[in-house]
Amino acid sequence: MPAIEQLGQEYEKAKNDPEFTWKLEDLLRTYCGRPTPLYYAERLTQALGGPRIYLKREDLLHTGAHKINNAIGQALLAVRMGKQRLIAETGAGQHGVATATVAARFGLECVIYMGKVDPHPYPMMVRDFHRIIGEEARRQILAIEEKLPDLLVACVGGGSNAIGLFYPFLEDENVRMVGVEAGGRGIRPGEHAARFQGGCLGVLQGTKTFLLCDEDGQIQRTHSISAGLDYAAVGPEHSYLREIGRVEYSYATDDEALAAFQLLAKTEGILAALESTHALAYVTKHASEFSPSHVVVINLSGRGDKDVQQLAGFLQTTT
Ligand SMILES: Cc1ncc(COP(=O)(O)O)c(C=O)c1O
Repeated sequence: MPAIEQLGQEYEKAKNDPEFTWKLEDLLRTYCGRPTPLYYAERLTQALGGPRIYLKREDLLHTGAHKINNAIGQALLAVRMGKQRLIAETGAGQHGVATATVAARFGLECVIYMGKVDPHPYPMMVRDFHRIIGEEARRQILAIEEKLPDLLVACVGGGSNAIGLFYPFLEDENVRMVGVEAGGRGIRPGEHAARFQGGCLGVLQGTKTFLLCDEDGQIQRTHSISAGLDYAAVGPEHSYLREIGRVEYSYATDDEALAAFQLLAKTEGILAALESTHALAYVTKHASEFSPSHVVVINLSGRGDKDVQQLAGFLQTTT
């Protein structure tokens, strides 16, 4: 049987196996640090003068980003299947770090590549392992605000942290959702990675989705200040959600993400990943469209320590 089919079948069995789900929940809690807090950002809220803003603190997870939710789930599956070696691809490095971490935890060999092959069932597994972000956020906001949020916002690279936050709210039609892509230096060929702005439907690495290509169908160069958003294609479920009009997609430029990074650092003392500050930049731009009766949840997908050196360079050249 092809390995990919074997994986799909084994995953279906595992997710219905109480022992597997118990082990996963236990590791998420005791090793990864779940549940992550839903934090009311009071000073940020005051500074923007619009909606009440909550941050889902995925940056506080072990290894500093949401990536470990999926890495630990897939590692547990590999162990269940008797595999001894994990391989992964990484763009910004965060997924590679999370995979190497869980490989050490289970005593597995690990090789990280800078490439990507995604056929089914990977997008589904990634979504399932990350949906805990939205499930927790839903419970937490109901406990604090006694209502569902008016708006959810998350950055979109491959799309995993966004789908994780959005998925448990998809049936709640009054909850608006916005995915924020990398607008880079502006929406011109080679200067950005906003697939839904000027991208086209195509197939890349086994996935039919929106991607950035030229008139000959060649994949275009991309640019973003944040490596994790700098990718020519997007997870296929996002293309679907956009097509059916359930989720809106916008973008923030490098400069807007940089300004949002500084705003969050100054008002809340939180250094967020530059990927995550794209989501914050969207809220900053649109805050005046909301009133204090509105509740917004932003997914803070990772911490910014990895970006500090690069940021220092940018800030020096711009001041
Ligand atoms: C902190 C952080 N946020 C977001 C992303 C983007 O990935 P995704 O859209 O799959 O969440 C990355 C990717 O490396 C990341 O490191």
